[in-house]
This record gives sequence, C-alpha cells and structure tokens, in this order.
Amino acid sequence: MILADIADYRKQARRKLPHFLFEYLDGGSFSQQTLHDNTRDLQAIKLHQRVLREVSGLSTATDLFGQELALPVVLAPVGIGGLYGRRGEVQVARAAHAAPVPFTLSTVSACSIEEVREKSGAPVWFQLYMLKDRGFMKDMLARARDAGSDVLVFTVDMPVPGIRYRDMRSGLSGGGALERKINRFVQAVLRPGWAWDVGLQGRPHTLGNVASVLGDKAGIDAFWAWISENFDPSITWKDLEEIRALWPGKLIIKGILSAEDAREAFRLGADGIVVSNHGGRQLDGAISSIAALPSVRQAVGPERTVLMDGGIRTGLDIVRALALGADGVMIGRPWVYALAARGGRGVTEILDILGKEMTVSMALTGCRSISEISPAILESDAA
Ligand code: FNR
Repeated sequence: MILADIADYRKQARRKLPHFLFEYLDGGSFSQQTLHDNTRDLQAIKLHQRVLREVSGLSTATDLFGQELALPVVLAPVGIGGLYGRRGEVQVARAAHAAPVPFTLSTVSACSIEEVREKSGAPVWFQLYMLKDRGFMKDMLARARDAGSDVLVFTVDMPVPGIRYRDMRSGLSGGGALERKINRFVQAVLRPGWAWDVGLQGRPHTLGNVASVLGDKAGIDAFWAWISENFDPSITWKDLEEIRALWPGKLIIKGILSAEDAREAFRLGADGIVVSNHGGRQLDGAISSIAALPSVRQAVGPERTVLMDGGIRTGLDIVRALALGADGVMIGRPWVYALAARGGRGVTEILDILGKEMTVSMALTGCRSISEISPAILESDAA
C-alpha cells in the first residue's frame, strides 16, 4: 500500500482501527465547525512565489528551548494515543527521538512516563491538565522530572471536557455500560489486525500515569469516568502561578486563543505558549488557531516563543504558520494516523513527508532557513 501524503495515512488509519477509536481521533466537538475551520483557514493562505533566489543548502532545522530539531514540529499530546499501536507511545517516542523532534506525552497516555522513558531511551516533553487532585499533580510533576522531562506543557483549555457527539454515536461514551462494551467488542473484532496487535498483544490497556489512582484494571470506561470527574473547572491564573513555582523547567501554556490571555501567560512566567483550540475538540465556534495567531504574536512581541496547532496537515501549512508568527507547530492527529497505519515507522514517514513538503515550499518562496520565513512570503492580503 502506497501512502503518499498525510491524507493517505488518515484513510489507512480508518481501515485499520475499530470504528470508535477512529471516531475519537478524527472528531471534533458539537457540529465540528472549528475543526473544519482549522484546516480550511490554513489552506486559504496563499504563498507568494519567488524564483531565482539561490536556495541550495536549504535547511528546515531549528532550535526550540535549546533543543536542535530537524523540523519546527512538536508531536502534540494525545490522550490514549498509545492504543493506536502496540505500546504506541513508546513507538512514537522512538520515532520522534530519531528525527529529532520532541514528543509530548499526555497526562492520560496509555503508557506511563516511566515506561516511555525507559523503553525509548530518551526524555519526552510532558503534558499536564489541572486536576482536582492536587496531590496527584504534584506527584506527576516529580515523576516527569525524574524521567528527565525538562519541558512541561500545561493545558488550560479543558476546565470541562468538550461535547463530542461522534464519541456518543460510536459507543465510546454514549449508551449504557453493557451496550458500550458490546459495541466496542464488535467493532474490535471487525478489525482483526488491531485486535491482535494492540487489543491482545498490547496490554495492559490502562492510563499508565494514573493507574496508581485508578487501579491497574482501568479500561476505557474508567478513562471517561476519570476525565469527567477530575478536570477542574475552578482553574484560574492563580493556579498557574502555583504550577510555575512547582516546575523548575520550561513551562508552555497550551490552549491560548486570545491576545490578552497570551500576555497574561507570559506575565506569570511561562516560557512559551501554544495557540490552540484543542484541535476543534472543545469550544465549537471558536476561531481557528491560524486565524488567532497573528494577533497573539503581535501582542507578545517578536522574542516570545509561540507555537501553534490545529489543522496542520502538510509542510506547506507549517510554512504558512511560521509566516504568520509561529516559532513552530504541534501536530496531533497526523502522528496518530501514522501510528495506526504503520506503527513507529509511519511516524518517521510522515515527519519525512512534512520535511520534504516544507523544503519545496521554502525553495519556491525564496527561503533557505526557518529564520527567513516571514509575512513577506505570503500574498499581501493573507498577512
Ligand atoms: C487531543 N489533544 C490533547 N491535548 C492535550 O493537551 N492533552 C490531551 O490529552 C489531548 N488529547 C487529545 C486526544 C485526541 C484524540 C486529539 C485529536 C487531540 C489536543 C492536541 O494536543 C492538539 O492540540 C490537537 O490535536 C491539534 O490539532 P490537530 O493537529 O489534531 O489538527
């Protein structure tokens, strides 16, 4: 099977995954307007072609928080991402280290941070949510430090989980407990490759980081119950000050769409932010991430580290985001499609595709390095 671009990996993931897992990955909240706007608004940005600019020796390499990266790309945190391949987060961490680009492990990953660190042989970035159990949060920060993580991504756009109708319809979260179990079992049986590789060989299916509080038998229903019970809607900027005081490493605040919130995050000591609407999974009707980026960049000035995510599907999109002020992008669904399609090898392949697509778009906009990408490479009405 030839998989040429990221859209092909998505199609292959759909063929290989049980329906409820594909729906959980692919879906957005409510009527999915923001999910669609993320990709549509990126694609609408026109690049200004330039020729005869001497673009030999072009490089996509960059530096983020003192780390040398092959591409300005970070693999975003994705809850239960490890269920999309056997011990999936370990495979993804290995592929990310080899590239190299950072991989961000979600609080609600399938593999624990200790397992990922030990089996992949290098530290990852760690993502944390504000949870009601502050003791667990403190323990988790200590565990992340012990596992060598020096970048914490603190996600602030989930005081309550978004409403995702596709998950209800698929049987992931909707219906009675027995109905859900039967639905998921039937869907898994219809995908024997996944059922064997991940369903049977990839056990245990726990939330690795929270297994100690949930008990080792925690399955998908326990995941949903834990999420809805433990996200903390009382979170304020004051809590962020506490996290800053507890975490000595780099702190990135993820889930910013407003210029004012961006300024506040840096005022409280963040080292970076991610302009993000959670991949269109939280507030449907919110602005697309790429549309929010220019005003955020303008508000915080040129020196601050600003990442962006939501809808990045090609190297062209990465160049567009950099031209509008991002220092780098996060990708969420694309790495999970790749893991589901072909395991860790798939993740290596899509990073390669993104790099090649970036190279072509940089060459034809006259940029030899990441630092040369600016609003000048966009048609003037896009900047
Ligand atoms: C996410 N995202 C997410 N973010 C986070 O901070 N912690 C998490 O556990 C999760 N979980 C999660 C699960 C799934 C299935 C998806 C698709 C997304 C959001 C993620 O980090 C990122 O912001 C978006 O995925 C970016 O959009 P794209 O690249 O998927 O379009």
